[in-house]
Amino acid sequence: MKLTKPSLVITRKLPKLVEDRMVELFEDVKKNFDDAPYSRDRLQNILETCDILVPTLTDELDAELLSNPKNRVKLIANFGNGTDHIDIKCARDAGIVVTNTPNVLTSDTADIAMALIISIPRRLVEGTRRVAKNQFSEWKPTHMLGSRLLGKSLGIIGMGRIGIAVAQRAYSFGMKVHYHNRRRLEKEIEDVVQATFWGNLDEMLSEMDIISIHCPHNKDTHHLLSKKRMKILKPSSYIVNVSRAGIIDEDGLISNLEAGRIAGAGLDVFEHYPSVNRKLQKLKNVILLPHMGSATLESRIEMGEKVIINIKTFVDGHRPPDRVIFE
Ligand code: DGY
Repeated sequence: MKLTKPSLVITRKLPKLVEDRMVELFEDVKKNFDDAPYSRDRLQNILETCDILVPTLTDELDAELLSNPKNRVKLIANFGNGTDHIDIKCARDAGIVVTNTPNVLTSDTADIAMALIISIPRRLVEGTRRVAKNQFSEWKPTHMLGSRLLGKSLGIIGMGRIGIAVAQRAYSFGMKVHYHNRRRLEKEIEDVVQATFWGNLDEMLSEMDIISIHCPHNKDTHHLLSKKRMKILKPSSYIVNVSRAGIIDEDGLISNLEAGRIAGAGLDVFEHYPSVNRKLQKLKNVILLPHMGSATLESRIEMGEKVIINIKTFVDGHRPPDRVIFE
């Protein structure tokens, strides 16, 4: 089905280059000038009146919104890779096509995961805070001792594109790569980083020094790292999460950190977003980032290009390349 002069709504401010190109190509484009997230009522109205919606992870598109028989929307071209804010099954049942922006944020996200993997054991943020607060007067042999990365075991949960990119980085830092995934990778891919596959997550967790989460968030992975399961980890271990917060039981993580049952954590995502748990903010052995895993100008522009290609192919009556399929 071809769409002539589709009406398109972008829910958040995108890089100017991307917005300008969308206006040039599609004409009837409504932008969000003040960049505040739209209310649920507003989203409902938009779904009823536009052909194409370009949302981001800040727009909760649940079953109730997507199954509204008054909806006019035909394509949800998500600006982002993760789609756990969209009820994909419901969209499919309602005949709405959903696309996302895979690949283009892989290396930037893996870089931030690696930055946390280095920064937590080596206490980088604590170190910069000390200098900023004038708490550094002299070098001492026992000063700011951290934990060495070389030879340590990294357990990656979810060995998709980002998981593999993290494995490559960790391998080049001399870490031993382990992973848990729904499917075992081809041997040739494992061999590149000498990765060890664990079919049993608990068995892997008990042996690792650092855990890094890279699986999608869905009903099967919600609270995959439960309070109880985290107790399997060695007390000297660290957890890094640049994926989605719901994969870790955040309250359970906090109580395990407070009790010294986990040595530290690096988080780019928070379960009660947009608020951040005060207890987490107070912990010294935790590094908190404001969901900036893929936040480079290059990635945002490439994400925009992907959104444009998905829309253009859809409007021209073809199958968009980055269709999200309900599994
Ligand atoms: C995504 O695209 O899902 C990322 O989390 C955004 O940074």
